[in-house]
Amino acid sequence: MRSKLVAGNWKMHGGIAQNRVLLDLIVTGTTGLRGADCAVCVPYPYLPQVQSLLQPTHIFWGAQNVSQHEKGAYTGEVSAAMLADFACRYVIVGHSERRALYAEDSHTVALKFRATQTAGLTPILCVGETLEQREAAVTEQVIAEQLDAVIELLGVSALAKSVLAYEPVWAIGTGKTATPQQAQDVHAFIRNRIAAHDIKVATELQVLYGGSVKANNAAELFAMPDIDGGLIGGASLVADEFITICRAAQS
Ligand code: 13P
Repeated sequence: MRSKLVAGNWKMHGGIAQNRVLLDLIVTGTTGLRGADCAVCVPYPYLPQVQSLLQPTHIFWGAQNVSQHEKGAYTGEVSAAMLADFACRYVIVGHSERRALYAEDSHTVALKFRATQTAGLTPILCVGETLEQREAAVTEQVIAEQLDAVIELLGVSALAKSVLAYEPVWAIGTGKTATPQQAQDVHAFIRNRIAAHDIKVATELQVLYGGSVKANNAAELFAMPDIDGGLIGGASLVADEFITICRAAQS
């Protein structure tokens, strides 16, 4: 039986004072959750703050990106070992905003996935199609390409120590959520594709859904058999929303 995970992706939001208020509320509001883990993926500068506030709690934390390189002359980049210094558990890799705005291709994402695991952290690998791709009925091809880049570089066993997130680009920040059945269909496709390589890895892998998950739709999404929680953008910045979403993931 897979446990659930709800991870907040703060994107480029936050501030020292507001983070403290938000995290205090989230810690209190999610105490005693059963069968679900919670995490927040925050901008790099807040990692020391988040580490010190969350270390004594049940909430995990992580980053939203990482360099594919171990170290060197890469101005402005942050290595996975640096993230490990701040006890990150998770690193989001291949978010569609990184793919679209920073031209990260699937091979680069696979290298970032590898760098994350090499440092002992867990990648949250994002995959998902654009509206154009969905309308052209190439959703499965797009997701297969994004997934296969990691499998080809590292082998399917690498997925055993990772989390996947299906995030249809057309549902991100738009208020337009995939229906539970639309999401379930893609989650099942992902799991079946991995099962063709290794059934155990496929069965145990957490596959999150992301894209306009809110307090009022989380429960129906999380009730689907292949949806193991959520990757939450906007609603992770609102304590009540995020707490309700975390509670919806309880067993
Ligand atoms: P929203 O929840 O704001 O749609 O963002 C989803 C997302 O991109 C999480 O990574």
